Amino acid sequence: MAKMEVKTSLLDDMIGVGDMVLLEPLNEESFINNLKKRFDHDEVYTYIGSVVISINPYRSLPIYTPEKVEEYRNRNFYELSPHIFALSDEAYRSLRDQDKDQCILITGESGAGKTEASKLVMSYVAAVCGKGAEVNQVKEQLLQSNPVLEAFGNAKTVRNDNSSRFGKYMDIEFDFKGDPLGGVISNYLLEKSRVVKQPRGERNFHIFYQILSGASDEFLCKLKLERDFSRYNYLGLDSARVNGVDDASNFRTVRNAMQIVGFMDHETQSVFEVVAAVLKLGNIEFKPESRANGLDESKIKDKNELKEICELTGIDQSVLERAFSFRTVEAKQEKVSTTLNVAQAYYARDALAKNLYSRLFSWLVTRINESIKAQTKVRKKVMGVLDIYGFEIFEDNSFEQFIINYCNEKLQQIFIELTLKEEQEEYIREGIEWTHIEYFNNAIICDLIENHQTGILAMLDEECLRPGTVTDDTFLEKLNQVCATHQHFESRMSKCSRFLNDTSLPHSCFRIQHYAGKVMYQVEGFVDKNNDLLYRDLSQAMWKANHSLIKALFPEGNPAKINLKRPPTAGSQFKASVATLMKNLQTKNPNYIRCIKPNDKKAAHNFNDALVCHQIRYLGLLENVRVRRAGYAFRQPYEACLERYKMLCKQTWPHWKGPARAGVEVLFNELGIPEEEFSFGRSKIFIRNPRTLFKLEDLRKQRLEDLATLIGKIYRGWKCRTRFLLMKRSQTVIASWYRRYAQQKKYQKTKSSTITIQSYVRGWKARKLLRELKHLKRCNEAATVIAAYWHGTQARRELKRLKEEARRKHAVALIWAYWLGLKVRREYRKFFRANAGRKIYDFTVQRLMQKYFLEMKNKMPSLSPIDKNWPARPYLFLDSTHKELKRIFHLWRCKKYRDQFTDQQKLVYEEKLEASELFKDKKALYPASVGQPFQGSYLEISENPKYKKLKDAVDEKIIIAEVVNKINRANGKAASRIFLLTKNYVLLADQKSGTIKSEVPLGDVTKVSMSSQNDGFFAVHLKEGSEAASKGDFLLSSDHLIEMATKLYRTTLSQTKQKLNIEISDEFLVQFKQDTVCVKFIQGSQKNGNIPTCKRKNNRLLEVAVP
Ligand SMILES: Nc1ncnc2c1ncn2[C@@H]1O[C@H](COP(=O)(O)OP(=O)(O)OP(=O)(O)O)[C@@H](O)[C@H]1O
Ligand SMILES: [Mg+2]
Repeated sequence: MAKMEVKTSLLDDMIGVGDMVLLEPLNEESFINNLKKRFDHDEVYTYIGSVVISINPYRSLPIYTPEKVEEYRNRNFYELSPHIFALSDEAYRSLRDQDKDQCILITGESGAGKTEASKLVMSYVAAVCGKGAEVNQVKEQLLQSNPVLEAFGNAKTVRNDNSSRFGKYMDIEFDFKGDPLGGVISNYLLEKSRVVKQPRGERNFHIFYQILSGASDEFLCKLKLERDFSRYNYLGLDSARVNGVDDASNFRTVRNAMQIVGFMDHETQSVFEVVAAVLKLGNIEFKPESRANGLDESKIKDKNELKEICELTGIDQSVLERAFSFRTVEAKQEKVSTTLNVAQAYYARDALAKNLYSRLFSWLVTRINESIKAQTKVRKKVMGVLDIYGFEIFEDNSFEQFIINYCNEKLQQIFIELTLKEEQEEYIREGIEWTHIEYFNNAIICDLIENHQTGILAMLDEECLRPGTVTDDTFLEKLNQVCATHQHFESRMSKCSRFLNDTSLPHSCFRIQHYAGKVMYQVEGFVDKNNDLLYRDLSQAMWKANHSLIKALFPEGNPAKINLKRPPTAGSQFKASVATLMKNLQTKNPNYIRCIKPNDKKAAHNFNDALVCHQIRYLGLLENVRVRRAGYAFRQPYEACLERYKMLCKQTWPHWKGPARAGVEVLFNELGIPEEEFSFGRSKIFIRNPRTLFKLEDLRKQRLEDLATLIGKIYRGWKCRTRFLLMKRSQTVIASWYRRYAQQKKYQKTKSSTITIQSYVRGWKARKLLRELKHLKRCNEAATVIAAYWHGTQARRELKRLKEEARRKHAVALIWAYWLGLKVRREYRKFFRANAGRKIYDFTVQRLMQKYFLEMKNKMPSLSPIDKNWPARPYLFLDSTHKELKRIFHLWRCKKYRDQFTDQQKLVYEEKLEASELFKDKKALYPASVGQPFQGSYLEISENPKYKKLKDAVDEKIIIAEVVNKINRANGKAASRIFLLTKNYVLLADQKSGTIKSEVPLGDVTKVSMSSQNDGFFAVHLKEGSEAASKGDFLLSSDHLIEMATKLYRTTLSQTKQKLNIEISDEFLVQFKQDTVCVKFIQGSQKNGNIPTCKRKNNRLLEVAVP
């Protein structure tokens, strides 16, 4: 549910008066009482028109939560109780919607809460402006620049534990949508004297304490620092620790913020190195040393610290040491070196420390600006937030306080100018008469300080630039001469008789009556601080540092860029930058936050009336209210006024149709408000007296109560009626739904009954029809069957009759033919017997032959010689012919087959044929050999190196080379031999060594014997008396017996023209030397597989068992 918009006003639930303009009666007492009353109720903000007065509560109040931000977001300024968020929202919306550049001017004395207020404004704007990753990063960087600058630029003073020691003006830039794009920070004169010396009860800049408390041991060691504050002369010891401030955790915050802002690690490191170097500079001490020429010279007491600084910053130790001992003055190409005495050396040291630190600070601002600057070149809307050091009055006020207070004077001036101008302009804009109001204008004080000729700053510059001896006293003298008559200047020596007796004023002081009070300035140090000189030797030493940051901080140390012109003085620089700032602020729409300090003790719940009164006076707040009220105390646009009070008149309630102004006129007339009490502007109604407003408010309150009752009454009536109507409507709906339901049920029941009846009737009808159809079908079928039978009978009868007729006709024809034949035979018998029989027979045979051949032609088998098919014989008398034909055909196809052979194949087949003739049907081994090709050479004698010797011994072509078993005649055991058959020899050689054992010429081989069985044993019989036969016949066995025997047979035939005798018998004789042994083949068992075994049975018998 959308949140209901609650229209409220700052006039609702007001504690005291939210806007001082409404204060009645208006005097100082009531003003303070009102502030006090509100302060006691934690209402720290109060308005004077559009100016916000903020009183420092010195404790955290729950009024800055995200819920509060939402509450104030997009609300009108006077709609809610006074708050800094209301002002921020007004400024932001005016910037975004009306395209007006804004500035937020936060003023007040030190500790009044300016810095806090500026952070609240920034955080509010960050919370309400655009969102998105990029925008959020910009916001984060802008916000995180604060902790960094505060660490380096804030310090604890007696007035404020976190006092800004520099002025800061930050421009936040937005695009046309109001999304932040970036920012630019300007800084104003850091109070650098604090680096080397702090007044009692005050501290140096926070960062020194933060490093020593928060850095890790390792990091401190890197920076050559020790954790102990008391080790460092530059750190005031009496208030090193501040209550409620955790330096260590702040250090982590600062480092984190530096990272978010975009400092690189090496940059952060360099920054801390410079801080460490500054701290350590304070520890360098000097002692006097007399020189021969009678001059005093300073010497560094302990060089250890100097050495460490040089290591840290990369400066040559001797260069820095010299810079602390001598001063070179350069004028018109002349260089004069003078020694420094101890005091001068200390001065030089402190000047270096101050310069290093203040330049580092300016560098930080520049570096932050680099990170946060807007990345686009589009036109930007700008909101400037000014948080400058507050007005300060110390016991000892020096140049710094003078500068700070001057700046505050200028701000007061711009406040006076712009507020009054704006007020005046509003009356003119609205066409209302305006009477002038007197107020104190501090322009005269500004003039005392900044006048080009007679101003204090001009005087100081003149003194600084004047040749001759210049001291602070000569400066004071000059002031006494020039400013003595000025109303706001006082000094003991002043010629102004009014102050001549003022002995409260010491000799070396002057006093200025600022808008915020009298401040006495010690003149000591004015000239020096204004000159802001650093000995050139020191800046050159720094420039020579091997440390990029330090080098960059001292560009004037570069000898190539020596500039003999004096740099502008600190005072004139500041004056110029303040002038620029003022100019800048005048172009923007100002929004004021005037901070007030409730007490001097930094304590919560403590409202010091006198202190507040003083601030109210010098801030001119009462005058501010008077100016606002001179004409009219309260003003409001017509629309807002009508919206707020329209219920007070019948014509305007609840809606007014016409223009708002007319509505307000009607309203005021109706209420009878006297005419002198209000005035009509162009867009606003102006109410002269606050009482009128309060009267209106009271009426409104009363009316609201009545209206609330009325609304309650109407609401209750409306609620009851609505409920009644709802119930009535519901009842109708329920009834109609029920009727519908009941009818539906009834209809469904009727429908289902109808369907049931219908289905029964249909079923009955269908069955009846089916029965009829079936009967009809059966009748049809019966008729068909009967007809078919009848037709069949008729047809058979007809067929029988026709057959009978045909038989008869045939019989007649046959009988007729026989009769005719008989007649012809009887007539021609005598001729027929002589010729016809022979002719008929020949003709018949011829016909049959013809038929036989024609049939044979179609039944021929394939041309394969092994095809056994042959058609059956058709006639017995053709038996022999048929067989002959088969033989001829077979021979013919064999020839055809042979004709395809090559010579090689022919040779192979010849051999196979030879084998067939020799062994077919004689040796059981033969059929197995038919399929095996005859390879002849089974051993690769010529290729295998193993047989090289054998190859060399045999010259002839080898026909067979195969391993055979030679059977030992003594025991029947086998031994492997290589069997070689050449053209002329049979050779046996040792299988392993290849040595030839026997060599038999083919002519000496008489016979080869073998069994008829399936074994490979064979005997080679040798010619009796031949040389080879001396060892006896060979009994061998081979797997290729058929091939061997065939080849041996063929070779012998071709060489000796003798047919080798091949004996196939299961018992043959073999001649072993002198013995003749019978080799007998028997049927053996299969225990050794299929291998035949050979056994010597006795002297005369060798038995071979063939499985
Ligand atoms: N709105 C606030 N709510 C709570 N505490 C506040 C608020 N404003 C200021 N303070 C407290 O007062 C202290 C001083 O405020 P702040 O630093 O803003 O003063 P200042 O006006 O900037 O002073 P200086 O001129 O010395 O810089 C803060 O440190 C904080 O403790
Ligand atoms: Mg501050």
